[in-house]
Amino acid sequence: MVRLAWPPFDVLVSLVDGAPYAIEAACNHAGANLEEGERRGSCVICPMHGYRFDLTSGRLVEPHGLCDDQRCFVARIVGDDVVVWDPGPTITIVAP
Ligand code: FES
Repeated sequence: MVRLAWPPFDVLVSLVDGAPYAIEAACNHAGANLEEGERRGSCVICPMHGYRFDLTSGRLVEPHGLCDDQRCFVARIVGDDVVVWDPGPTITIVAP
């Protein structure tokens, strides 16, 4: 897992089964640095209170309902680099 500065967020980039994933590096519960957490399979365990987040989706796996999921970013391998970007908000356009 690698933490990259990407103001206003730092991003935690990790490889899961060879594919890159990126979530916000600061835990949304109380701000701990998830890079310092323990990696378990496709999850990271927050070093402060032990909440477990899925690195591929940002989903809070456990405990349930005590904070939000982590913000997710798009990550792709391009040549020798991992490129990360914010997909932005999802906009739904409804035709009249
Ligand atoms: S700061 Fe991460 S679980 Fe509390």
